[in-house]
Amino acid sequence: MKPSVLLARAVFPEIIEKLSQHFEVEANQDDIIYTPDELADKLRGKAGVLATASARFDAQTIGRAPDLKMVANMAVGYDNIDLAACTARGVMASNTPDVLNETTADFGWALLMATARRVTESEHWLRAGKWSKWSYDCFLGADVHGSTLGILGMGRIGQAIARRSMGFNMRVIYHNRSRLAAEQEREANNASYVSKDELLSTADHVILVLPYSPASHHTIGQAELAMMKPSATLVNLARGGIVDDVALIAALKEKRIAAAGLDVFENEPKFHPDFLTLENVVLTPHIASASEATRKAMAHRAADNLIAGLNGQRPPDLLNPAALPTA
Ligand code: GLV
Repeated sequence: MKPSVLLARAVFPEIIEKLSQHFEVEANQDDIIYTPDELADKLRGKAGVLATASARFDAQTIGRAPDLKMVANMAVGYDNIDLAACTARGVMASNTPDVLNETTADFGWALLMATARRVTESEHWLRAGKWSKWSYDCFLGADVHGSTLGILGMGRIGQAIARRSMGFNMRVIYHNRSRLAAEQEREANNASYVSKDELLSTADHVILVLPYSPASHHTIGQAELAMMKPSATLVNLARGGIVDDVALIAALKEKRIAAAGLDVFENEPKFHPDFLTLENVVLTPHIASASEATRKAMAHRAADNLIAGLNGQRPPDLLNPAALPTA
């Protein structure tokens, strides 16, 4: 008998077909967001689950899923999975790195440019019928070319963002848990490693691309926002929770920084309503990796991990090797 797997969210139909060749598949094409109790019910009898960040796999959920052997996350981030709890129960976990680097970097640039040059704010104004004449100071923004770009979290996506800055003749500074090798810094537009404080106080544009963990909770709060230039923009592509959204809203209201471009929020999709009252923000619904090709590549990669793991092979993107049955 084929093992059973749960698709915790709706997916491309081709993924259901692919997984059905190996497993009994319970799909969720109505895209219901399961409560923890519903998820626990659905996981009963399932050997694997293809999940996204909207489902939490904490010690309690894992404890209520005695048949579970693998969680394949369709995301590079995996802060929704308690790896220690998975490992303790021998449950493998995987993510989908690399396939989204370039698409996510493209979107970082889209947000940066829209924020610095006030693209959505001016479009809303135009759509509201307020444009009656050209004027010299209509929606003055900040230049992107020739400016200093600060990248906080210089992993593969951060490096892809840095490479794109060459065409804009920018200086790149970065901060990361560890410094890149000299060759990687060269390829990342000769990026210079600086302290977090120096990055915040020097950069004209700050992009956040670091992973979320309890240690990175509120990496950007009131004190950090106070270090930034009043003309600076902040772009968050990483995860809600890395920025203290209440502190950011206050800084934006008081124009202590110029503007922010946000693809992720604390408590998303129920983000802080005050963001909607601000003009100096560009708000997008967690779509940085959402090109059709990349979302398909992520879904296939998650499916391939699940197929490998439940067929006795090592999943290519295994996050917790200690959970391997042979370990
Ligand atoms: C998206 O947020 C991801 O982690 O892939």
